[in-house]
Amino acid sequence: MTVTLPPIPQLECSPLEAARTVAREIAELVRARRAAGRGVVLGLATGRTPLGIYAELGRLHREERLDFANVTAFNLDEYLGLRAGHPRSYRRYMRERLFDAIGLPPEQCHIPSSDVAPSQWEAHCREYERLIADAGGIDLQILGLGRNGHIGFNEPGSGRDSRTRVVELAPPTRVDAAGEFGSVEHVPERAISMGVATILAARRIRLLAFGAAKHEIVTRTLTAPPSSDTPATFLRGHPDVRLYADAAALRGEGSPS
Ligand code: F6R
Repeated sequence: MTVTLPPIPQLECSPLEAARTVAREIAELVRARRAAGRGVVLGLATGRTPLGIYAELGRLHREERLDFANVTAFNLDEYLGLRAGHPRSYRRYMRERLFDAIGLPPEQCHIPSSDVAPSQWEAHCREYERLIADAGGIDLQILGLGRNGHIGFNEPGSGRDSRTRVVELAPPTRVDAAGEFGSVEHVPERAISMGVATILAARRIRLLAFGAAKHEIVTRTLTAPPSSDTPATFLRGHPDVRLYADAAALRGEGSPS
């Protein structure tokens, strides 16, 4: 039997428009939940793609007094093998790019640890899943897209049912991170990542992709049969996913960036 999955709704817009739209959606969710005396659980990404959203959320906090006190955040992933506080760790990225700017207290910011001993890997990952479940699950997940189709660090080969676990980073992922670490040998070989199933359990997913360098993988994500060859294709089965992408990523217009 052939199962036809619904397409992913696509919104063509500039990175700035996407950042403002997604930040506005988050702000509306935060305010509506606060009015109802409830919390919001956000799933967050690192990398270049969400930077505009984080800048806009910081602006909303500063200039429009958007209060994040009722927000709990869970990051998708973290490099493994970096000492706590390492400048290239995602914990540091999040503190510098978002958490400090919106006044989110550390106890409401969850990121897998970058320095867990191998004997504790499994327990740490299980605990991360438990924390997400105890928080009520993720209301809105922000996602970027790796050139090889990874979401979080679910590299090709990751199953639809995968959960938070230790993953080996794929060679293209390490090459893409080489600039950050000085050279590819310094990029960690492993990470802890939410699984595909963890991501798909989020009630809303907002996927963003910009620049011609993402055109090929955006096309594959939208059209290839869902399979672990391109983990992002699994998003096609999600009931509330949207893709925000510019003309370069959607149609290959302009030069790779
Ligand atoms: C980051 C993450 C990755 C990135 C992806 C795109 O937490 O999970 O999946 O979203 O590698 O990276 P950028 O945004 O730098 O192109």
